[in-house]
Amino acid sequence: MKLSKEFLDKIINVTSKAAIACYPHLGKKDKILVDKAATDEMRKNLNKLDIDGKVVIGEGELDKAPMLYIGEKLGTGRGPSIDIAVDPLEGTNFAAKNLPGAISVITIASRGNLFNAPETYMDKLAVSKDVPYDATDLDFPIEKNIKNIAESKNKDLTEVTACLLDRPRHKEIIDKLKKLKVNLKLLTDGDVAGALLVTNEKYKVDIFLGIGGGPEGVLAASALDSFNCKFQGRFLFKTPDDISRANKMGIIELNKKYDLSEIVKGDSIFCATGITSGDLVNGVKLENGKFITETLVTHKSSNIKKIYLK
Ligand code: FBP
Repeated sequence: MKLSKEFLDKIINVTSKAAIACYPHLGKKDKILVDKAATDEMRKNLNKLDIDGKVVIGEGELDKAPMLYIGEKLGTGRGPSIDIAVDPLEGTNFAAKNLPGAISVITIASRGNLFNAPETYMDKLAVSKDVPYDATDLDFPIEKNIKNIAESKNKDLTEVTACLLDRPRHKEIIDKLKKLKVNLKLLTDGDVAGALLVTNEKYKVDIFLGIGGGPEGVLAASALDSFNCKFQGRFLFKTPDDISRANKMGIIELNKKYDLSEIVKGDSIFCATGITSGDLVNGVKLENGKFITETLVTHKSSNIKKIYLK
């Protein structure tokens, strides 16, 4: 089922207001306060919408107010049944320290069309639509992925750029990339935005890879779908608690590699509003007493992929 274009303005409004709510708390070194401001505002505005909404990707799975938790019902209950993935403040460190790259993010899809995922890590791979589908795979050695990308884009290995979170868990992969003489873009945080850097040549990122948050993976996947990019993810369930939560959500094959089409089915709308300026969108500005926000919006069925100013 297609999502009405009427939702575009409404969802832009939700992430914009959440971003604005962070503004007074930027740089105050209080991650909890700024996250709560974004979450409360997002919940308030989602609850005003005439939808029968349910959070399928959120922050935690229990009724741990103030977080928007998995299973939480949102909206007036009148209107279409919608699954919602939220990250009211993606990049809490960035916002708390007033550094570039904090965004407020939502994806919506019709009920049953967004992957219902627990909060855990995910191994991810994203490449642009210019790379043939079979040229890359989560199961290929990194050297094979990079060489295939270089070949398909007619580039030298030294002209390929790989983007990933700068974490000790990625040491081996970073060492291999360095050996290949590939350029690195190492993120301190924020892998929703990081994955989206493969959507346009202007960002000069050829592959996004590595382990980050599972919820962030699902959010990025919906936008990548509208850009016809490739995305694969594999959840990493380590502790018995992780495994039991996954099983309760119906995930039995724990080691499964998911393709984008299994994570986001059918139509979706994605909105990411800048809180602080980053590669994708500019942050909230206050000009003549009026807030201005920038939101990257994608809507699969109407082929909308653009930045809205509000
Ligand atoms: P928060 O905004 O929730 O702090 O997440 C930031 C982030 O960098 C995500 O973009 C990423 O997926 C995750 O944290 C990585 O987790 P970790 O910091 O544990 O490596």
